[in-house]
Amino acid sequence: MGRLVLKGVSRKFNNSFAVNNVNLEVNEGEFLCLLGPSGCGKTTVLRLAAGLDTPSSGEIFLDDKKITGANRECGFVFQEYALFPWRTVRGNIEFGPEVKGMQKEEVKRLSQHYIDLVGLTGFENHFPHELSGGMKQRVGIARAYANNPKLLLMDEPFGALDAQTRNIMQGELLRIWEQEHISALFVTHSVDEAVYLADRVVVMSARPGTVKEMFEINLPRPRVRTSPEANELRNSILKSLGAEIKKLVPQV
Ligand SMILES: Nc1ncnc2c1ncn2[C@@H]1O[C@H](COP(=O)(O)OP(=O)(O)OP(=O)(O)O)[C@@H](O)[C@H]1O
Ligand SMILES: [Mg+2]
Repeated sequence: MGRLVLKGVSRKFNNSFAVNNVNLEVNEGEFLCLLGPSGCGKTTVLRLAAGLDTPSSGEIFLDDKKITGANRECGFVFQEYALFPWRTVRGNIEFGPEVKGMQKEEVKRLSQHYIDLVGLTGFENHFPHELSGGMKQRVGIARAYANNPKLLLMDEPFGALDAQTRNIMQGELLRIWEQEHISALFVTHSVDEAVYLADRVVVMSARPGTVKEMFEINLPRPRVRTSPEANELRNSILKSLGAEIKKLVPQV
C-alpha cells in the first residue's frame, strides 16, 4: 500500500535552494533508501513527504492524493527516539490509535500485536528511560506501525546504535516489513545499510540536493552482506556518493 510520488519538488530556505527539482517515486510496498552527503536535504524530503513542511514548488502525491497538510497516512521514525518519556512502552504505542478514537479493547489488541512483533514482550510497562537504545528504536517502529500507515518515513533510525545492534535492528525491520508490506522511504548515511535493506537506492547530490543516481538492488533476501554482488553494488554506490561528499570537502 502507498505509492509516493514527488514531482519537481524544490524547497528554498532564506532564498537559497536546499533541495532542487526532486523527482522520485516510492512504489507500492517498495523499500527505498535515500543516501546523500550531510546537508543535501534528506530530512527536508522526508518532512515534505510527511506534510510537516510545504514545497516552494512542485507537488507530492500519496496514492494520487496531493499532500497539502500533515499527512496522517504516514508513520515517521526519527533519528532521535522521540518517545513520550511519561508513557510506558504500551502507552507510547497506543498513543496514535487512542488519538484516532479507537475502542479501548481494539487499542490493547493492536499494541500487543506490535509489542510482540518487535520483540518487546515482557517490557510493556517499562518507561523509555528503562530501555536500551535498540529497544527504544523498536518502540518507535512499533508506534509508527500501530498507526496503520500507508508509508513509513524513517530518518536514520539506527544512526545512534552500535554496529552490532544496528545489524540486528536491520534484520528485525526487514522481518516486520516483510510481514506487513508497507512502502518505506528510509534515510541513511550507511551504504552497507542501504544495500542490505533496499529494493532501490537513490543517491542525492550535494546541496542543493537533487536525485543524482538510482541503483536497483536485485538481491534475494535474506541478503549476504559479503557476497560479491553486494560488494560490487556497494562500490558503485560509494563512488557516486563519494563524488558528492568531495564537493563539500574538496581536500579529501
Ligand atoms: N528550517 C530551516 N531553516 C533554514 N534552513 C534549513 C531548515 N531546515 C533545513 N535547512 C537547510 O536545508 C539544508 C538541508 O537540510 P537537511 O536537514 O534536509 O539535510 P540532511 O540531508 O538531512 O543532512 P544530514 O545528513 O546532516 O541529516 C541544510 O543546508 C539546512 O541548513
Ligand atoms: Mg537529516
